[in-house]
Amino acid sequence: MEKMKYTINQLFEYTREIFPLDKFPEREEEMVRIMIHILDISRYELSLIFYKILQDDELTSFNNIIQERQTGKPLAHILGYTYFYQDKIPVSPQTLIPRYDTEHLIEVLRKHYVPTSEISILDIGTGTGAIAISLHRLFPLARVKGIDIIIEPFIESQKDLELDSSLLTIEQVDFLDESTWEDLGKWDCIVSNPPYLDNHDMDILDWQVKDFEPHTALYAGEDGLIFYRKIAKFAEDHLHDDGILVLEIDHKHEAISQCFDPVIFPHRDIKFDFNNLERVLILKKAQDVE
Ligand SMILES: C[S@@+](CC[C@H](N)C(=O)[O-])C[C@H]1O[C@@H](n2cnc3c(N)ncnc32)[C@H](O)[C@@H]1O
Repeated sequence: MEKMKYTINQLFEYTREIFPLDKFPEREEEMVRIMIHILDISRYELSLIFYKILQDDELTSFNNIIQERQTGKPLAHILGYTYFYQDKIPVSPQTLIPRYDTEHLIEVLRKHYVPTSEISILDIGTGTGAIAISLHRLFPLARVKGIDIIIEPFIESQKDLELDSSLLTIEQVDFLDESTWEDLGKWDCIVSNPPYLDNHDMDILDWQVKDFEPHTALYAGEDGLIFYRKIAKFAEDHLHDDGILVLEIDHKHEAISQCFDPVIFPHRDIKFDFNNLERVLILKKAQDVE
């Protein structure tokens, strides 16, 4: 784009021309995020200044971001962060960009426990730590641990957000290796957004996700159930009686639910997302399994 004078409104129009909706379905929201990033203002402030003309340096930043975005590189990778629940979470190409849908897990737990609960929560496959961090904020007296095979992204979040490392801990664990389980102890609540894509899901994956996000964060074997089976087995010994498991799920919800023994987990419930798709599986362990 030539160096001329453009209003924010004109730049919104311009991006509608260069980002086709079928390839960039979130382009409107992304434009808002780009503008508030460049101008360092709130969404509300942006809504008041749509006829503001961008300064030269602001226009240069805008052009640079737009050019990178046209390659398909996710906006969160370009800006270095995304928003999740109440935080601005640092993001790197090493792990999944936290998704809005995952906030449903947080909402389930917010309704389940009171803010002063002194519970223990394990987040399996924590990635950036988005879930663990949000739960640490909601339950400041809880002991929260995030585990992942790659922990650098979470360490980065913890540094950037200046979080209390005595109550919110991180551990590098290959969860699929059962020999690591003994050291993990026992929990009141286990939460996870594990890798859950199967072969077919991987074949039809959105081009931007396929090219830019790590497949270790997405793929879970031929039927997409490896992690759910392991979590079911792990929870038999590592979840307290009466404890709860809160898991992100997808269209395979019936097969996922069947990974959990009905005698050990007799109470189960499913929460739907805003598109009315099955999104969270909640399982409660029986009182007298031990
Ligand atoms: C779907 S991502 C979820 C990330 C984050 N919890 C979120 O909701 O944004 C799954 C995570 O599982 C982690 N993971 C993959 N294989 C693992 C393993 N064997 N042990 C532990 N974590 C693993 C990935 O590194 C990734 O961070």
